Amino acid sequence: MAKNRQWHLTSRPTGELSAGNFELRESAIPEPGNKQFLIRTIYLSLDPTHRLWAREKASYMPSVKLGDVMRGFTMGVVEKSNHPGYPVGAIVTGVFGWEDYSISDGSGIVALVDMDPRLPLTARFGLFEHIGLAAYFGILDILHPKPGETMVVSGAAGAVGSIAVQIGKIMSCRVVAVAGSDEKCAWLKDELGADAAVNYKKGSLKASLRAACPKGVDTFFDNVGGECLEAVLDLINMKARIAMCGAISQYGNDEKPYAPPNIYNLLNKRAKLEGFIVLDYAADQRWWAKAHDDMTQWHIQGRMKYRIETVDGLENAPQAVTKLFQGTNTGKLLVKVSDEPPASARL
Ligand SMILES: NC(=O)c1ccc[n+]([C@@H]2O[C@H](COP(=O)([O-])OP(=O)(O)OC[C@H]3O[C@@H](n4cnc5c(N)ncnc54)[C@H](OP(=O)(O)O)[C@@H]3O)[C@@H](O)[C@H]2O)c1
Repeated sequence: MAKNRQWHLTSRPTGELSAGNFELRESAIPEPGNKQFLIRTIYLSLDPTHRLWAREKASYMPSVKLGDVMRGFTMGVVEKSNHPGYPVGAIVTGVFGWEDYSISDGSGIVALVDMDPRLPLTARFGLFEHIGLAAYFGILDILHPKPGETMVVSGAAGAVGSIAVQIGKIMSCRVVAVAGSDEKCAWLKDELGADAAVNYKKGSLKASLRAACPKGVDTFFDNVGGECLEAVLDLINMKARIAMCGAISQYGNDEKPYAPPNIYNLLNKRAKLEGFIVLDYAADQRWWAKAHDDMTQWHIQGRMKYRIETVDGLENAPQAVTKLFQGTNTGKLLVKVSDEPPASARL
């Protein structure tokens, strides 16, 4: 009989997340109650934020309790339903667990997938959701880029960063990308149109960035924090804007994350640094819908590319998540948990 496999968080990470922090357990597939529905997971999104959710101290969400099923963004298909809004066959995304099956009553972060049918299901995580839309809102709501300005993007070859680079180009900025290998830098320039790309693992990041930004930095979309933020703070122009999307270089430093000593350059330059969480934007349905329309159009016009890396099997999730912290993922990292339903069976 089929079972529900679930990865439980059984210890807190010290440093980076490791496969040893999780344990796979099996239980019976749950039955949906009144106004509930059962979702079979198709894709589990692996995200740097798992490191934040696994620590003791709460972040922008409560931490996962020790012994609980690990939390994750997933996409699945409704297999049983007692809820009129979520019929059998509907494709949904939401914040559920690292598991084969989830139960929902539609509350919390759950959405019906109603993308342009020309797009594959995986585009949902490549272009939209907490990935593409983080880049979209961070740039349009916080950075307010102007044509000709210099925009720096860190973590630029990753899922969010690669979208941010392309939005920067669509906004007619001069985009300088920062990534962790020559291969990634070549992809950013040759395929995504970045004007310059800096490999932060080679030589002095400060010197390389200074050379790549001869007119200083007007906007910075930061996924990395730490020394990368410090290097950019040295170069900001008057009235610069910084969107703090993430700080992956510091997620393993629970005790004492590195804070740039030149933070007061914000004052000298009358500049702004603002953190944001993409989920907050979902409350504004009109802007959320416009973001979907813009991203869809840009992709269909060939101006917005995305890469997906798929790892097969729920059993491989804890090993795969470490790729994000080693920089060995090449695109949005997903675990394929089960097969997609045929297009004809989808609602
Ligand atoms: N604010 C929000 O709402 C929101 C939403 C989604 C994601 N985020 C944040 O956005 C960032 C990127 O997330 P993602 O999903 O797109 O992941 P990702 O960029 O696809 O994968 C993580 C990448 O980070 C880089 N990295 C890892 N450790 C690093 C370090 N110590 N220093 C510099 N770079 C390092 C690696 O690339 P290299 O080879 O270049 O090192 C790695 O490939 C994360 O900080 C995440 O928490 C925020």
